[in-house]
Amino acid sequence: MKPNVSLQQDIESEIRQAIDRSLRSHGIAILPPMDVKDSLQLMKRIGISPSVTMLDPWYNKGVGGVRDDYREFIIDLLRNAVGVSDHVFLWGFPEIVAYFVDKLPEQLNLVAWLTWYYKNNPSVIRGWRSSQNACLHLAGVGAKLYPEHFLNEAQKAKQVQGKLRYMPGPTSVIEEDLLDPPDVIEASLMVGFVGRKEQTGHPSQKPVSVFEKLYLMTTTEGDLIFDPMSGSGTTGEAARRNKRLAIISDHSDEYTKIAEDRLGIERIPVPLPMLPEH
Ligand SMILES: C[S@@+](CC[C@H](N)C(=O)[O-])C[C@H]1O[C@@H](n2cnc3c(N)ncnc32)[C@H](O)[C@@H]1O
Repeated sequence: MKPNVSLQQDIESEIRQAIDRSLRSHGIAILPPMDVKDSLQLMKRIGISPSVTMLDPWYNKGVGGVRDDYREFIIDLLRNAVGVSDHVFLWGFPEIVAYFVDKLPEQLNLVAWLTWYYKNNPSVIRGWRSSQNACLHLAGVGAKLYPEHFLNEAQKAKQVQGKLRYMPGPTSVIEEDLLDPPDVIEASLMVGFVGRKEQTGHPSQKPVSVFEKLYLMTTTEGDLIFDPMSGSGTTGEAARRNKRLAIISDHSDEYTKIAEDRLGIERIPVPLPMLPEH
C-alpha cells in the first residue's frame, strides 16, 4: 500500500533519526536493502548531504549479470546522483565507462579518470587479461579536493615551514615533494590468498586501500560518505579507518548481512514496505 503524505513524512523522519543515531554511535549507518535509485532519492528527501557518493555497480561483464539496458541504467543513476553530494565516483571497466564520459549530467564535470591497476588477475581467457578497473571522478563546480592528505610527515613539516613546492603536471612524478597522488592506484586484486583477512566472500569486493585514497582526496575528518551499492561494506571500513562517517546500502539482503558482520553493526530498523517510492 502506498503511504499517504503525512505517514510518508513520519517514516522519513524516523529513518533520518535512525541514521543519525547510528552515525553517532558507530560512525556508520547501514540502510536496509534497497534499490540504488531509492536510496539516492531518500538522501535528498531527508536532507542528508554527503560529501561523496560512491557508485560501484556490477560491471556488465559476467559477475552480477549482464543487462541490456546497462547504459540507460548508468545514465539514470548519474542523473539521480545529481544534488546528493559534491563528488561522485563511478566504477567500471574502461571500455564500459568510456561511453559515459561525454554523457554526464551537466551538473557533474569530469575531474579525473582514475585507474586501479592489479597485476594478479588469473588469466582465464585467450585474449587481453584484464588488469585494470576505471573510476570516473565527477564533481560539481567548486567541489573541494584535499591533496594535502597525501603528504608524508617530512612533507608536512616542510609545508609548516612554507618550504613545500607545489609541482603540478605529469613531470612532477619525479619530484619528492609531490602533493598530488597518482591517478593510477596499484593494489592487488583480492583473490586466493591475497588479502585473505580482508576478503568477505562478496564476489566483487574492492580493497580498502583503493577506496580510501578516493575518500582522502575528497573528504576531511568527520565528513560523510554515501555508498548506495556498497556490497561487502568496503566504504564503511575505509570511513572507519580514516575517521569519516558513512551511510551504506545495497539492494541485496545477502550482501547487507555481509556488511553487517564485517562492520559489527546492524542495519537501521526500517520496515521495508514502508520505504518511500521514488
Ligand atoms: C561491484 S559490487 C560493489 C562492491 C563493493 N564496492 C565492495 O567493495 O564490496 C556491486 C554491488 O552493487 C549492488 N547492486 C547492483 N544493482 C543494484 C541496485 N539496482 N541497487 C542497489 N544495489 C545494487 C550489488 O548487489 C553489488 O553488491
